[in-house]
Amino acid sequence: MGFRYYYADRIREKMPGFRGTDEELQSAIDDISLLYNSAIKEVETRLDILSDDFDKKHSYMPIHHVQSRLKTFESIIEKATRYGIEDPLNNLDMVRREILDIAGIRVVCNYEEDLLTMSGLLLSQEDIEMIRVKDYCDNPKESGYRSMHVVVAVPVYLVNKRKMVPVEIQFRSVMMDAWASLEHELRYKNKGQLAQEIVDTLKECAENLHEMDERMSRVRHEVLKTGNKYSDY
Ligand code: GTP
Ligand code: MG
Repeated sequence: MGFRYYYADRIREKMPGFRGTDEELQSAIDDISLLYNSAIKEVETRLDILSDDFDKKHSYMPIHHVQSRLKTFESIIEKATRYGIEDPLNNLDMVRREILDIAGIRVVCNYEEDLLTMSGLLLSQEDIEMIRVKDYCDNPKESGYRSMHVVVAVPVYLVNKRKMVPVEIQFRSVMMDAWASLEHELRYKNKGQLAQEIVDTLKECAENLHEMDERMSRVRHEVLKTGNKYSDY
């Protein structure tokens, strides 16, 4: 993954209005970049370790792949404005309290049941705080979107202090992820607008994929029952 850095002069150009000096703006955004990039590394490492230990214990790796991103500074400010934060550029502390997906991680698991396994393992770590869970698996969004969104705060150790930093983790199955990325791509290409007919078809596709998720899971359990490789899992 690539880390994202923000530059004060570019931000000034695109979003004038910060009342402090360039040095103050650079320092504030460096702070955000350091904290949230570190929080991403922290969670990625923990997921990696859990996956390795799970493999050691059960000869199975629940995680298919992991992606992460740091929100661009522009979209942090845009979202803060949308959330009704007044003058967000000059209220960055408030922005950091309210915008919980500055650091984002997507954990794509093989099967639907792995989502609970992995989120449960992570949430049970005692220095991780759970901030919010949105379960769009049991309650899909109107679009058909399924996924489990967990916002946690993780400790980041700096030179002389410990900071709890929020990270939004989206747990998805391979099927959920396939649908979400194609749907996102289609929506993006069409500037967020899709004809109702298309929206309906996409929703139907999401339901079909959900059915497929359940079938694949049943197949897996059949294999587990008869195979010997996973017999202790
Ligand atoms: P945002 O302002 O969108 O971040 O709202 P929120 O903070 O309330 O988050 P929400 O729980 O709605 O999840 C937002 C994120 O989930 C998006 O950034 C997408 O990654 C994903 N998401 C939510 N709904 C959809 C959808 O219908 N289609 C796709 N492809 N992704 C979605
Ligand atoms: Mg978001």
